[in-house]
Amino acid sequence: MIHPVILCGGSGTRLWPSSRKGYPKQFAPLLGEDSLYQATLRRLTGPRFTRPLVMTNEEFRFLASQQAAGIGLSDAQVVVEPCLRDTAPAILVAALIVAQDDGDDGLMLVAPSDHVIADLPGFLHAVDRGAEAACSGALVTFGVTPDRPETGYGYLEIARKPDGTGAALPVSSFREKPDAATAAKFLEEGTYLWNAGIFLFRAADVIAAFEAHAPDLVAPARAALDRGREDLNLFRLDPDSYAGSPSISFDYAVMEKAGRVSAVPLDCAWSDLGAWDAIWAAEAPDPKGLATRGPVTAIDCSDSYLRSEEPGLQLVGLGLDGVVAVAMRDAVLVADKSRVQEVKGLVSTLRAGG
Ligand code: GDD
Ligand code: MG
Repeated sequence: MIHPVILCGGSGTRLWPSSRKGYPKQFAPLLGEDSLYQATLRRLTGPRFTRPLVMTNEEFRFLASQQAAGIGLSDAQVVVEPCLRDTAPAILVAALIVAQDDGDDGLMLVAPSDHVIADLPGFLHAVDRGAEAACSGALVTFGVTPDRPETGYGYLEIARKPDGTGAALPVSSFREKPDAATAAKFLEEGTYLWNAGIFLFRAADVIAAFEAHAPDLVAPARAALDRGREDLNLFRLDPDSYAGSPSISFDYAVMEKAGRVSAVPLDCAWSDLGAWDAIWAAEAPDPKGLATRGPVTAIDCSDSYLRSEEPGLQLVGLGLDGVVAVAMRDAVLVADKSRVQEVKGLVSTLRAGG
């Protein structure tokens, strides 16, 4: 059995105004009735998986528990990180819990909660290939064939191109978030895959990788767990111990440095819904490139995404090309579609009152 570990402690500001500080994108119903977090939980239920372990923080603990219960998973084990320390300490604590519950050989699948995966059988097929590789000691990541020089992802350098069998490939190097010129070079070379941000390994193997490559995280994580306490249906890590951990992502702390990394090709219509252009693409735009959601009327519009999140709020577009418009009760975004990555900076400016 595989222990699903769901990471849902981040705040995706590039999807403002639908994603907010107190209600980030993974909890918002961006593409239908389920939130991305609920869709992630659903993907990781079934005969292969144990009950999920949800790693979140103080601010989102209610959303995490309520939304799990909302899809019938009230037995999800929710662990509360008392302060923000990024993904590495969260994954280490999860590994210590899995090792405690299931022994060193316990397999864990770490899944971010901000992705869409359209092809579930394709995903589960990759998970099975990954489990085989993880059982022989590899730290497994899932790799997506890149189609653009994206700088928001990590890149996996593989020795040979995927052969179509879905078998795990050795990763010779891992580069988290390269600059634009490096990303373009990687795309041209053709021997790089995007890191999908999903990981599969035995608890003991990843703990050993932390001990080797990020040893200063280990004592704070162990103490946070040992001194933590059950509180109703949550487990609270000890605040003082967890605060003593460096803040670093798993990609930088471990994956860039680890030796035995394997990539399983992921061919399942994967997308990180990072910004509005990704939502537009996931909404299956019409032949003129128009996609809409909610009460929207669009006349002569092309290459645009028009979305109204209020049942009574009509959004009307006339003659638009290359525009993203998202209307909510208390905020409206109207942006050039080619500049939606800049929404993140805009939100910082708004927060600063500038
Ligand atoms: N529990 C917890 N605690 N979760 C966190 C924290 C934290 O402190 N910080 C972020 N997360 C969650 C986010 O909610 C998200 O689900 C996941 O961890 C990944 O964090 P992101 O902030 O979305 O990472 P990223 O998208 O910039 O980069 C990662 O994903 C890319 C693919 O989507 C990396 O793994 C890249 O290498 C990868 O390409
Ligand atoms: Mg992400």
